[in-house]
Amino acid sequence: MEFLHPLLLILHFIGLASLLGGVMVQLKAVAQGKGSINAAMLHGALTQLVTGLALVALAEMGDGSVNHMKVGIKLTVLIVIMVLVLVYRKKSPVASWVVWLIGALTVTNIVIAVLL
Ligand code: HEM
Repeated sequence: MEFLHPLLLILHFIGLASLLGGVMVQLKAVAQGKGSINAAMLHGALTQLVTGLALVALAEMGDGSVNHMKVGIKLTVLIVIMVLVLVYRKKSPVASWVVWLIGALTVTNIVIAVLL
């Protein structure tokens, strides 16, 4: 079981890389009015949800040291990201604010994870 926490955390970082990377590769297309929601954003957001919840469950089963406020804010931010990704996934081109907002919310979650 000791390997589970580092494994989940590594997957959590891979999900973050996928989500933010998905946004970054779209920035040029967005500037040209041809942006879209790509699979990297969708799979990254889903990975963050699954690994984040699993990390919380693991902590609750162990020493129970979970910062509920931090996790609650991160979950709320991620739900907004998921809604944006799911609603605008089939629309191409997508309005530039959608991609920028997904990127900004992802960075917000990184800041919350590190600072709170
Ligand atoms: C876009 C979404 C997310 C991003 C960018 C993100 C980012 C991060 C980062 C950078 C860390 C490592 C820093 C730290 O340990 O505090 C982290 C850890 C963590 N995240 Fe997330 N996260 C996201 C979503 C979530 C969600 C939705 C949950 C739970 C519902 C969650 C739960 C956790 C937990 C429990 C840890 C601590 C792991 C540990 O060290 O025990 N995350 N996250």
